[in-house]
Amino acid sequence: MIGLGTAAIGRPQYINLKPNGTNVPFQLKGFIEKGKSILTETYEGGVRYFDTAPGYGIAESILLEWISEYQPKDISVSTKWGYTYVANFNPHALVHEVKEHSLDKLNEQWEVSRQLLPYLRIYQIHSATLDSGVLENREVLERLHQLKNEYNIKIGLSTSGDNQNEIIEKALRVKVDQNDLFDSFQVTFNVFDQSLLKMSALLEQENKTLIVKEALANGRIFPNKRYGHYEDVYVVLNKLSKKYKTSIDGVALRFCLDVLHPFSVLSGASESAHLTSNLKALDFELSLEDLNELRGLAISPQFYWKERKNLPWV
Ligand SMILES: NC(=O)c1ccc[n+]([C@@H]2O[C@H](COP(=O)([O-])OP(=O)(O)OC[C@H]3O[C@@H](n4cnc5c(N)ncnc54)[C@H](OP(=O)(O)O)[C@@H]3O)[C@@H](O)[C@H]2O)c1
Repeated sequence: MIGLGTAAIGRPQYINLKPNGTNVPFQLKGFIEKGKSILTETYEGGVRYFDTAPGYGIAESILLEWISEYQPKDISVSTKWGYTYVANFNPHALVHEVKEHSLDKLNEQWEVSRQLLPYLRIYQIHSATLDSGVLENREVLERLHQLKNEYNIKIGLSTSGDNQNEIIEKALRVKVDQNDLFDSFQVTFNVFDQSLLKMSALLEQENKTLIVKEALANGRIFPNKRYGHYEDVYVVLNKLSKKYKTSIDGVALRFCLDVLHPFSVLSGASESAHLTSNLKALDFELSLEDLNELRGLAISPQFYWKERKNLPWV
């Protein structure tokens, strides 16, 4: 299924390619109303899963406000802990978010995020990395285990970078009270970075929840003169969008759904037209032959993540 990632509705600047969004003055009230209206549209388009995080500016509070006004009965939500948004909507801020994977940060952010209960089903470490040591921090792992049992939620993590598989492998070995701690993995996967395919059978076998993020490669799947090296990708996506009478993003999202069969592929849309276009992925299935052609578009994860690191916050 398609879920909605709320990173772009909670903060006006986000790592992606947004050619037109840079000079519009920020206005908080309008920003919140627009966010809630996208949530309503998403729900009305059939989406029932929403992903958020305190690191996404005011996304969590927009989602909470929308839930209390709209009263959807049948949604599930995941959130994260570990990043604090610090840019205060300033487009010129040098730092947008601060990472801290400590027990204090977990407890502080949980006190806010718990308001999402009973919709909250998955609680994730935001961008777990090997160097932060979070997968070895016993007091953090035990606290997560406690939250899992007390609130009957899944514990997950999100990963980014060219060593995603290594992080997943390590997380799969983490036990608390002799039980696996991690039930859910939010991972980058798209036509460019397909490295997750090496792990997907294992994740399925271990009955883990898989959530795909950055399925549109932060906008890099769309034809763009700055990325001439992706010309072959643009040609294939364009050809398939015509064949299936759908959008380019529809093909890219459908690829993730059909190749991995995950719990969810996140749309990161914050514009109504983009959302409508993304949801076209639900109207068709790709043939085996076309899936194989798309699988042939993969590039090296090292190149992918080097380029991703240099994307601007716009
Ligand atoms: N470390 C982490 O845990 C982490 C990191 C990244 C993302 N995420 C999660 O994954 C979600 C999705 O990731 P993402 O937003 O980075 O990646 P994405 O889905 O790869 O890219 C979204 C970007 O594509 C644009 N877009 C979508 N449809 C379009 C269309 N039809 N035409 C032109 N542009 C279009 C969106 O623009 P508009 O916004 O203008 O619609 C947005 O800039 C996030 O919201 C978040 O929940 C998690």
